[in-house]
Amino acid sequence: MKNISVIGSGTMGNGIAHVFAQKGFSVSLIDISEEQLKKALATIAKNLDRQVAKGALTEADKTKTLGNIKTFSKVEEGVKNADLVVEAATENMEIKLNLFRQLDAVCRTACMLASNTSSISITKIASVTKRADQVIGMHFMNPVPVMKLVEVIRGKQTSDAVTRTIMDLSRALGKVPVEVNDAPGFAANRILMPMLNEAIFTLHEGVSGVEEIDTVMKLGMSHPMGPLQLADFIGLDVCLAIINVLHQGFTDEKYQPCPLLVEMVKAGELGVKSGKGFYSYAAGSKELVVADRFKKK
Ligand code: CAA
Repeated sequence: MKNISVIGSGTMGNGIAHVFAQKGFSVSLIDISEEQLKKALATIAKNLDRQVAKGALTEADKTKTLGNIKTFSKVEEGVKNADLVVEAATENMEIKLNLFRQLDAVCRTACMLASNTSSISITKIASVTKRADQVIGMHFMNPVPVMKLVEVIRGKQTSDAVTRTIMDLSRALGKVPVEVNDAPGFAANRILMPMLNEAIFTLHEGVSGVEEIDTVMKLGMSHPMGPLQLADFIGLDVCLAIINVLHQGFTDEKYQPCPLLVEMVKAGELGVKSGKGFYSYAAGSKELVVADRFKKK
């Protein structure tokens, strides 16, 4: 395993490219937007700088890591020599199914296809290919260079050999893989998203305020971020999409998204990436400021 292609250069895609390149793999980072690719390389360089500043990497490691990444705006060119493709495109079923149909047609027969989907069925994604035994979920956590977990999801037809290879590969990246079966939200988001949704209900019903709810979970349960800050960090649109997958997949009302979450997504208040969610985010500032609409009167 040497050549890894990563599709999508957003937050997850650039983090995945970063860790593979840092461990010496040859990475092809693919995105239809040249602009986004430029941004992704700048983000990777900035995150490598943090590691250099902390003494975790040397300047030479940084240069080598960046040298291991090539960018492509056409999928067929970027996956030509791939041993493994990790898809980290938008969390949308149609987009992913179309991509996997295309990947199946253009990738080498031996190439394994992984999706970083946070909730879409791996069995469903695999079903549009003629290599369902070589399709698997490789779910990284944000920020990818920091978080240790890779949730490895077996579709109904994923082979034992491919699962073993991906578990070993995750370890080679310095991560801890956990194998789970295919079910809505897998394990991570089946547990995480109802908690975030419940925190939003707690706010919506006036039980407590933004800072208070986050403080309860930070100081009471030792979470590094409170649930509302974490929802902002993940992106409220992503949270809503995952909760909808749980709601539809289990047809159980307990997964109904909180109306406040639905409204905020409609209003474009998506969290860190839009500059406003439960908190407001001024460029360059690390200070956590509650968004105006949630400020105590
Ligand atoms: N790249 C490289 N290093 C990074 C980084 C990045 N993108 N972001 C942070 N770091 C490093 C920092 O340099 C710092 O390093 P040291 O420990 O060596 O000092 C360390 O990570 C901590 O960062 P900060 O000091 O800036 O900030 P912090 O202590 O507040 O930690 C955090 C930030 C790691 C994000 C922490 O708040 C945290 O763990 N939050 C929870 C994250 C989480 O739950 N992620 C999962 C989300 S769910 C998901 O991703 C999947 C899904 O399907 C929705």
